Amino acid sequence: MSTPSSGRSLPAQQASPLVRIRQNGREYDVRCVPDQTLLTAALSQGAALTYKCLQGECGKCSVQLLAGSSALRSPGAKEREKLGDKLALGYRLACQSSFSSLKQR
Ligand code: FES
Repeated sequence: MSTPSSGRSLPAQQASPLVRIRQNGREYDVRCVPDQTLLTAALSQGAALTYKCLQGECGKCSVQLLAGSSALRSPGAKEREKLGDKLALGYRLACQSSFSSLKQR
């Protein structure tokens, strides 16, 4: 069946906080999608991010967070290993960064 009007309410995507990222001199606003990676969410929302391995190895998906970093889970081992001191400057691997559950503001 493909009837969408079943009385269910739509997800609160419009109320989702935004993360602002920069890669290769371009900035993108990405709506937070709980449990998705930043890369998956960004690509599905039209951001033209560069990436390659999806494994946290190549570093091609590196982005700098400009706003909304609290919406992401803490960096994992691969991010810490690959980015090192750049983490403190707001860089993350988009393929390894995932959104936490939406937080109350
Ligand atoms: S795509 Fe290679 S580290 Fe993310």
